[in-house]
Amino acid sequence: MNAQAGGETDLYADALGHYRSPDRGDAVKVDWERPDYVGLLRVALRHVRAGRRGIRVVDLGAGAGEGWWLTRAALGRGVHFGYTAVDSSPSLLALGERRLGGEAGVRFRLTDMRDFDFAADPTDVYLSVGAPFSELDEESFAEVVRGIGMAVASRRGPSAVVLDVYGRDCLSWIPVAADRRTYSMTFFLDAASPPTRDMRFYTRGRLERVIHNGLTDAARNRLTGLVFSDRCVFSSRHTLTGAYNPDVPRLRTAVNALINGEDVPDGDRGLVIPEKAYLPHLGATPSHRALARTVDTWNKTVHTGLLGGRRSLARSLRGLNQITGTAAAGIGHYLTVVALFAAG
Ligand SMILES: C[S@@+](CC[C@H](N)C(=O)[O-])C[C@H]1O[C@@H](n2cnc3c(N)ncnc32)[C@H](O)[C@@H]1O
Repeated sequence: MNAQAGGETDLYADALGHYRSPDRGDAVKVDWERPDYVGLLRVALRHVRAGRRGIRVVDLGAGAGEGWWLTRAALGRGVHFGYTAVDSSPSLLALGERRLGGEAGVRFRLTDMRDFDFAADPTDVYLSVGAPFSELDEESFAEVVRGIGMAVASRRGPSAVVLDVYGRDCLSWIPVAADRRTYSMTFFLDAASPPTRDMRFYTRGRLERVIHNGLTDAARNRLTGLVFSDRCVFSSRHTLTGAYNPDVPRLRTAVNALINGEDVPDGDRGLVIPEKAYLPHLGATPSHRALARTVDTWNKTVHTGLLGGRRSLARSLRGLNQITGTAAAGIGHYLTVVALFAAG
């Protein structure tokens, strides 16, 4: 394995197959997850008036450049934008360069985001996807937020920042839920050693605290809104393998079948979530209450929707896979926040 920026081992070097694989873009990813993220990105882009020329985006923990595709989807083909990919993994960034190197306005920065000089080039939108901030300890995360905030506060125009972390109380790992634990991406099926790291997991309250602790007064005074979103509530890739919660049915496999108009393996049992998959793990916290409510709604939707046909059930379930606004709690595979900063 190579060394990554900052001197640590390039954890993602063995997992390039996952990023290259067409299976990564399964029906759930294409029809549910990407459009849901693109919807959040549009909130950010509208705020900075993306219609104007020369919008610039910095993708933190960009990997192979997923943020470029998402930004293009959010803006529409043919709208020019500047895109800087920042990542500490040489192997993923090199894959991104091979894919996007020919596109105008694309730059790659092989650096640890903790060392990135945000002040040198303040930009319109900072985005992240795939929970790169969960790979930082909370103090470093707040430091990066501080750096972004100082850059944002130095600009005349509005800015938006999309921060993506793992949700603490996702159904697919509720038996092992904790603020911090060793996390292995076992769904990277062809990786000799799947990326495994000490990761941080967030409820909405905890993520809000990191933002408020990180921002300087000048940046906090420009902050006009935080839009939270639980993403991939039921479609976590861990439901392909049952790695952390074997009592959850293989929901992602089942939903892929529904979207494709195919029979669901195991019929209703492939979609109905049994009580043993979550009830024994629940306390009285807001996120646990949110999880119980959401699972109940999912099961009811499955029971009533099974009569209506596969594709229509897939459409009904899709609306439950993302929870945006004050109800977002940290129960998705990802917890995402769009922070909106006013013009100075
Ligand atoms: C799960 S991958 C997501 C990659 C990409 N955003 C995507 O969605 O495909 C997390 C990425 O964060 C990067 N990353 C983690 N910690 C980082 C740091 N301190 N500085 C820069 N990149 C980091 C990793 O190298 C990896 O590419």
